Amino acid sequence: MSEARKRITVPAIKAMKGTRRIGMITAYDYPSAKISDSAEADIILVGDSLGMVVLGYPDTLSVTMDDMLHHTKAAARGAERALLVGDMPYLSYHVSLEESVRNAGALIQAGAHAVKIEGGKPSRIKTVEAILDAEIPVMGHVGLTPQSVNALGGFKVQGKGEDAARRLIDEAAALDEVGCFALVLECVPAELAAYITEKISIPTIGIGAGPACDGQVLVFHDVLGMYDQLKPKFVRRYAEVGTMMGDAIRQYLDDVREGRFPDVARESFHVTSEEELRRLYASA
Ligand code: KIV
Repeated sequence: MSEARKRITVPAIKAMKGTRRIGMITAYDYPSAKISDSAEADIILVGDSLGMVVLGYPDTLSVTMDDMLHHTKAAARGAERALLVGDMPYLSYHVSLEESVRNAGALIQAGAHAVKIEGGKPSRIKTVEAILDAEIPVMGHVGLTPQSVNALGGFKVQGKGEDAARRLIDEAAALDEVGCFALVLECVPAELAAYITEKISIPTIGIGAGPACDGQVLVFHDVLGMYDQLKPKFVRRYAEVGTMMGDAIRQYLDDVREGRFPDVARESFHVTSEEELRRLYASA
């Protein structure tokens, strides 16, 4: 591996706070990880958002550890330089500390360098502590935590109003204190995210949390315009790949139906001589 492609580590991500902004994106398989890695992503998250953008569920709650392991293994084969973070899915860290550590370890054995878990209430801090104790780096995630969509009453901005803002600040401080190496802030007012970013010692990675965060994350399919079931305000589409893919497939199918594909000279194989062909027909 060349010096330029040296792996980004957890301490390197921590050291980026106040030095340079961190670019993070999700990826779910070999091609999406390889493309993101070649584009110099600092962190690639195998997010449980794969439940929505890859598996077609309406939310992330149906994603299992088996799904996450399968996709983490594929993404790991494509991520040469980026720090690879595996998302812990719903119910993989909610039942017991022992199960949480075992599931976090399974993601590491699948190729992740760290795991991400949602929430910052006191019981969750204990879970983070147990996973850290097994030498597994943890990225926190507060604000809109999609695995709590039913408890929150929908995909809504969090931390609005003084009490809610105070709760978020306390959760962020607790996750920093327990030893998370970075913290995702999802769908919170920009001013609150700026305050938390200033207050805690670890990098904040925003998604719908304004420009003051230490880094930003977006979902691969949103950046490329490949998912149209939801279009949150915070998403910026940098391409319309979904439309391009549809156009390309339509052209291919039209060519098949109109007899323009395959081309007999450029896209076909041929017998070596007319004689061989004559013999073939004769023997049929
Ligand atoms: O699952 C996911 O993609 C995420 C990011 C949006 C932070 O949790």
